[in-house]
Amino acid sequence: MSFDPIMSAITYTKPPHPLETRLIFKNVDREGWNPSIGRYLEDGGYEQLRKAVKMEPKAITEEVKKSGLRGRGGAGFPTGVKWTFIPPNNTKPVYLICNADESEPGTFKDRYILHQDPHQMLEGMIISCFAVGAHIAYIYIREEFPEAAKIVEKAIEEAREHNFLGKNLLDTGFDLEIYVHRGAGAYICGEETGLIESLEGKRPYPRIKPPYFPAALGLYMCPTIVNNVESLCHVKHVIEMGGDGYAKLGAPRNTGTRILCVSGDVKKPGYFEIEVGKVTMRELLYDMCGGPKDGRGIKAVIPGGSSSKILRADESYKLRNPDGSERELGFWDIPMDFDTLAACGSMAGSGGVIVIDDSRRISWVLNNINAFYAHESCGQCTPCREGSTWMQKITDRLVEGKATPRDIETLESVAFQIDGRTICAFGEASSWPVEAIIAKFRDELIADTCEDAGKDPKNPEAEAQRRYLAAY
Ligand SMILES: Cc1cc2nc3c(=O)[nH]c(=O)nc-3n(C[C@H](O)[C@H](O)[C@H](O)COP(=O)(O)O)c2cc1C
Ligand code: SF4
Repeated sequence: MSFDPIMSAITYTKPPHPLETRLIFKNVDREGWNPSIGRYLEDGGYEQLRKAVKMEPKAITEEVKKSGLRGRGGAGFPTGVKWTFIPPNNTKPVYLICNADESEPGTFKDRYILHQDPHQMLEGMIISCFAVGAHIAYIYIREEFPEAAKIVEKAIEEAREHNFLGKNLLDTGFDLEIYVHRGAGAYICGEETGLIESLEGKRPYPRIKPPYFPAALGLYMCPTIVNNVESLCHVKHVIEMGGDGYAKLGAPRNTGTRILCVSGDVKKPGYFEIEVGKVTMRELLYDMCGGPKDGRGIKAVIPGGSSSKILRADESYKLRNPDGSERELGFWDIPMDFDTLAACGSMAGSGGVIVIDDSRRISWVLNNINAFYAHESCGQCTPCREGSTWMQKITDRLVEGKATPRDIETLESVAFQIDGRTICAFGEASSWPVEAIIAKFRDELIADTCEDAGKDPKNPEAEAQRRYLAAY
């Protein structure tokens, strides 16, 4: 990061690592900081809103498109492009929803924004609402964040008192109300169409896409923009720097900064804001997180939340250069960006980097993941409802030493039958970890099986397995 006189004057209770670039987390753990509007205004807060409301709404969208900002909620879809999907001849109300459900395992970034810097999120939201013409917006906050909901509600009241919200905000003639909606305590409430159903007061059953792409048919069947907390915060900085200026941060097509949340088997897990693609896997895990625990080696990493495909620490990848030639990239040299992680067969997802060291059996890791997805399936689609439970039952047996090698084949086949055959991307979220772990750790999984499992008549569960296999 280049020398920044403002940043260098800021002190932190937990100082950021020198490889960090604090844009969104500038105020997180900052000495003397608090979430009040007074403190935010002292620091130049809401100046970008004042600037944005003097622009044409379409010009704001253009800046966001130019910035190259990609969504930080999981899919990495370009934010400005999403906004243009609102039908041009639309006559219905437009809604904006801030997705603060933060439910992807391994992800813990949005909660710090909600708790420590709610006005940054509100400023980004208000600018975004002005750009897309939304007069009503919602912040859908994960049920397990009650304190965050209180803080954000207070921040909304403060913003209204200062005329940043409400009728005729900042004397622009533009009206905007923002409401907090408490989540329903399920992972699937973070999926945008499940979230919309939940907001409408129903079970969070995701809707099929097409036709229910929210930008066209969202909340109450009206155009609705759903963006992640972190994505909306970035909008404020795009206005401050201009789209082109913002795009200078990070790497081409992978612009800006993003917050990575590192958990698992490293000495110093935590959150780190980096320029996208400017930090490698080695720098992240060794320089920033202190490397593996003493006497241990890193075996694998799940780089973008539990639903992303696992990467082995000893593998390398053949990647294509822009001129069509090929190059080899080792795991440790992967730059943490959207496109490279995708080219390596995984994804940047929600930024939740889960580290697994050589003390862990991979069967245990997979069972842990399967248990989560079996519990969280909403149950609408048969492949997901039945398959996620079936996969958990198999890995339950695996960790108990009661699975046969044939079970691994069944497990793989169940995952393939879920993948691509469900209403929402939960199907992939639950099957990709299974597919990738089997592809990369088949020998270790097989080593945890037992040819004789299912043949022990004293064990009724094993006996049922024997009968099941015999019937096959
Ligand atoms: C099962 C599932 C869970 C999701 N959970 C979240 C979540 O907790 N927070 C979030 O922002 N996006 C989540 N998403 C992604 C949202 O559907 C949506 O793409 C995102 O909020 C869009 O925001 P963005 O474009 O700013 O990334 C989830 C997606 C799926 C399939
Ligand atoms: S894929 Fe799973 S979570 Fe998504 S709608 Fe179908 S059953 Fe529900």
